[in-house]
Amino acid sequence: MQQDIRNFPQDKIVVSPSILAADFCELGRECREVVDAGAKMLHLDVMDGKMVPNISFGVPVITSLRKKNDALFDVHLMIDRPLFYTPAFVKAGADHITFHVESSDDPDKTIDAIHSHGCTAGMSLRPGTPAEALFPYLDKLDLVLVMTVEPGFGGQSFMADQLPKIAAFRREIIRRNLKCHIEVDGGISEKNADLVVSHGANLLVAGTAVFRHPEGMEKGVRVLLDTQDKFDSAL
Ligand code: DX5
Ligand code: ZN
Repeated sequence: MQQDIRNFPQDKIVVSPSILAADFCELGRECREVVDAGAKMLHLDVMDGKMVPNISFGVPVITSLRKKNDALFDVHLMIDRPLFYTPAFVKAGADHITFHVESSDDPDKTIDAIHSHGCTAGMSLRPGTPAEALFPYLDKLDLVLVMTVEPGFGGQSFMADQLPKIAAFRREIIRRNLKCHIEVDGGISEKNADLVVSHGANLLVAGTAVFRHPEGMEKGVRVLLDTQDKFDSAL
C-alpha cells in the first residue's frame, strides 16, 4: 500500500476522479494532470459484465497506472466475486478496495481478506438498497460508498433521492463514533456537490465532471474541492 485512507481527515473534502471518463489513449497523462490539480485519489471502476451490465478494465490497466502515479488508488469493484479477485487487485496496486453488498461473496470474509492483504476496505450499495443493509459492517469498514446512479456506466444523471441515505450514514457514523469515510459516486458535479457534502459526504467521485470539464480538468477538481465550507456548516 502506498497511501492510507485512514490518514485522510474524516472532515476534509477529497476528490476521487473516475478514470472511466478519461481518454484511454492519454490515460497516464490525464491521471497525472488530475492529481497535480489537487485530486488525492484515483477512482478505478472495475466491471465484470455480471454484477453490472458493462465491462470496463481490470488488473493490467491498474498495474500500468501504478508505475507512474502515487495517488491513493481507490478501486471500486462492481464484480460478482470480490473475495476471489481481491489478491489480484492488491498486487496490481490498490490502496483501497470497495465492493458491493449485492455481490455473491460473504461481506465479512471479503472485508477481512482486503484488510489481511494490507488494504483498507469499503462497501457500496445500489440506489435501491437501504443504508441499513451496511450497518452490520460499519464497525469494520474504512469507507461506505453511496451510489447516486445505478452502477454500470459513467455519465448518468445524479439521483437526488439518495441524499437521505448519505445523511443516514452520517448520523449512524456519528452516533457510533466510528471512523468511516462517506464517498458518493455517480453524476457528481458542481451542480450537486454542495448538496451531497451538506448531507455528510466527504469523498467525491466524479468522472465526467472532472475529465470532461469544459474549462479543463484542473477547474473540474477545484470546484468540487470548493465545497468544503458546506461540510463544515453541515455538522
Ligand atoms: C458508475 C461508476 C462511477 C462513474 C462515475 O458505475 O461507479 O464511478 O464512472 O462517472 P460520472 O461522474 O461520469 O457519473
Ligand atoms: Zn465508481
